[in-house]
Amino acid sequence: MAEPLKVVVTGAAGQIAYSLLFSVAKGDVFGKDQPLELLLLDITPMMEVLNGVVMELMDCAIPLVKNIVATDDPMVAFKDVDAAFMVGAMPRREGMERKDLLKANVKIFKAQGQAMDQVAKKTVKVIVVGNPANTNGCILSKYAPSIPKANFTCMTRLDQNRAQAQIAAKLGVSNDQVTNVIIWGNHSSTQFPDVAHASVTIQGKTIPVAEAIKDDSYIKNDFIKTVQQRGAAVIKARKLSSAMSAAKAACDHMRDWFFGTGNNWVSMGVISDGSYGIREGLMYSYPVKIHDKTWTIVQDLKINDFAREKMDATAAELSEELDAALAECEA
Ligand code: NAI
Repeated sequence: MAEPLKVVVTGAAGQIAYSLLFSVAKGDVFGKDQPLELLLLDITPMMEVLNGVVMELMDCAIPLVKNIVATDDPMVAFKDVDAAFMVGAMPRREGMERKDLLKANVKIFKAQGQAMDQVAKKTVKVIVVGNPANTNGCILSKYAPSIPKANFTCMTRLDQNRAQAQIAAKLGVSNDQVTNVIIWGNHSSTQFPDVAHASVTIQGKTIPVAEAIKDDSYIKNDFIKTVQQRGAAVIKARKLSSAMSAAKAACDHMRDWFFGTGNNWVSMGVISDGSYGIREGLMYSYPVKIHDKTWTIVQDLKINDFAREKMDATAAELSEELDAALAECEA
């Protein structure tokens, strides 16, 4: 059997981690033959809760799990890790200003980046889930300069899955029959869910989603709004934010990174190289293809005026957020 892969989950005592850890532990992400060492990081006041999670993970008696380490010390949690799920973040509390939230998260991701820089493997693959995920990802990478920028990503896969599911439901097909839906930009309500390049297979025939739906107004209005507002709708109904679906999306993202996407595309926040006229250095969600554990941005897609406007609006929000975070780093 292979050597155990070291996988860290931060925010390990929280609700997303509760679903995520089970999926990772039973081999949904790294394969059914890949032994694992799980490193669980949370803050000091959560250590008792985290201990309960460790007890439950033990009680699952999953053969792939060779060791579990629970800690409040990033230097322990990130030691030699191969994969990092960065779920822990400061949540927005009532009355908290955006600026304060950003400040708290810059502090967290700066410290975690510095620790990662010192002790993680240089090949570590990182997905940031904790919000504001895109900007947190930039800060993490900034403070871990010895690790390639391409190893830092953030999650927009939940938005992609939501978009895909909406289209599948609209057309009455199974979710896997809808491919190449794109999420551009920020994991926020300015994100642009785009089906202009997506396909659907209906009764064995693959056609563009736009042709199958035939209702441009639905695609430009209700569809986009539903996906953009889905997180808020879940909170309203469940009184808690998405957790099961967020964990599933984080697993999809990391599994595709390790095993590839074949000919399909997936969306992930990556540090922009300027593709599609987006400011270099922003962590912007693009369509990517993955082969040999390496992602590349899908290039040369035709962008019409409607898409351009939406792509630029979400980039503008990200730019403002990054500038505020960078100013905070220097303060
Ligand atoms: P939660 O509040 O249940 O859990 C968060 C955990 O992170 C808590 O146990 C907390 O103690 C821990 N934490 C806080 N600061 C930490 C630090 N410095 N180091 C390690 N752990 C720390 O929240 P939940 O529901 O699990 O969500 C986690 C994050 O994921 C939130 O920021 C949420 O907004 C975000 N999210 C992102 C999504 C995406 O699509 N990118 C989707 C859904 C949620």
